[in-house]
Order: sequence, then structure tokens, then C-alpha cells
Amino acid sequence: MTLRQAQDGVRINPSILAADFANIESELARIATADLVHVDVMDNHFVPNLTFGPQMVGRVQDLSPIPLDVHLMITDVDRWAPGYAELGAYSVTFHAEATEDPVGLARRLRSLGARAGVAIKPGTRIDPYLELLSEFDQLLVMTVEPGFGGQGFMDEVLPKLRAAREVVDREQLAVWLQVDGGVTEATIGRAAEAGADTFVAGSSVYGAADPAAAIEGLRAAALAASHRH
Ligand code: DX5
Ligand code: ZN
Repeated sequence: MTLRQAQDGVRINPSILAADFANIESELARIATADLVHVDVMDNHFVPNLTFGPQMVGRVQDLSPIPLDVHLMITDVDRWAPGYAELGAYSVTFHAEATEDPVGLARRLRSLGARAGVAIKPGTRIDPYLELLSEFDQLLVMTVEPGFGGQGFMDEVLPKLRAAREVVDREQLAVWLQVDGGVTEATIGRAAEAGADTFVAGSSVYGAADPAAAIEGLRAAALAASHRH
């Protein structure tokens, strides 16, 4: 599946963690104007919450009008992540804390045709990954502790985004910088200003009466604060 033409370089990825799982087809249709659908896979081990696995994500892949941005909050990613690339996910992001060999896993995901993403929790330092950025297609800087939707945005992680943005711009890398957690119309500008270009939003999209309007509101607020237009 191809990506919507993001001419402005800003991507809004609603998270179906905040959707009604029993009506997933219509919930996916409500966010058809977004760029990618963010799919949070949790194993009740890496994080204290449980969502769905490959079978359910495969169904979402079948039904979604837009490509999948899979966020794996699981252990044993070397065993499980390639399967999400194989089922057709556009992007597969695993946590740096969950593997000894992030570069090897990213290369495997890319060889399977997916974009490879690496995620870091709020307490994880970014420094070791800055020199490896060219090995990834996306860096996800978590702006909440992973595990649950509806938490508050952590401004204290913004310096990590600034550091990553500096490297990406200096080395002219094609790496997307993603934030996830607590992204709302009130916080998205601070993330964009710090260098993010790819924004996950769960509650602020699915909690809105009109998700399509919420997506456009987030997009406008990100663009207004972004350096990249
Ligand atoms: C949290 C997940 C997020 C979550 C974000 O661990 O990774 O993707 O859905 O939800 P909000 O936008 O409500 O913070
Ligand atoms: Zn997520």
C-alpha cells in the first residue's frame, strides 16, 4: 500500500489503541484522511498491558485504507518483529530496550520490505543511537511511558528530539522522527518545534467527536510550529 502524499512533510498517525476494537473496520474508516494507522502491539511483559498479536494486526492490514505503522511494545523482538513486516506492515518499530542487535534487526526488516523503526522509552538515552540513525527509517522518541493511552506529554524528552533532528539535518538522512504519547493540539507544536515530523495520536483523535477534523487540527498545529515547510 502506498503512502498518502505528505507534501508538507508532516505525518499524523492515529493510534487504534483508543478505538473500539469490536468495530475495527468502521473505526479505521474514520481515520482514512490520516497518513498511517498506528498499531500498538503489547505483550504484558515489556509493558504491563496486553493488546493484540500478528493475527489481529493481519486483519487490520486487510481492512485499513491507509498503511500500517506497527509499534511493538514486546520482548523477544528478534523472534516476532519480522512477522509484522511479512504481513505487509509499511513500518515496523521495535524498542531498543528489547534487543541486543537493533541494527541487525532493522536490516532484516528492511530486507523484508518494511520501513524499520527503533523506539526509546523516556528514560533511555539517545546518544548510542545517534550514530546509528542511518540504519533506521524512523526513530520513535516516546513522550510517555509506553503501555497506556491517555497519559500526559513529557516535555522533558524534547532535548532528545532536538539532538536527533540536528544529526538528521546535518547528515541529510531520510529518517522520520516520531513522537508517541500525550500528543494533542496543545502539545504537538512543542514536539514539532523540537524536530518531530511524525506524530502518533490516540485519545486526541478517537476521543474527538469528528476524528477527521481532529487529524486536520493536529496537522495544522504541527505545520505551524515546524521548521520543515
Ligand atoms: C502508548 C502507545 C501509544 C498510545 C498513545 O504506550 O504507544 O501509541 O496509543 O495514546 P495517547 O495519544 O492517548 O497518549
Ligand atoms: Zn504507540
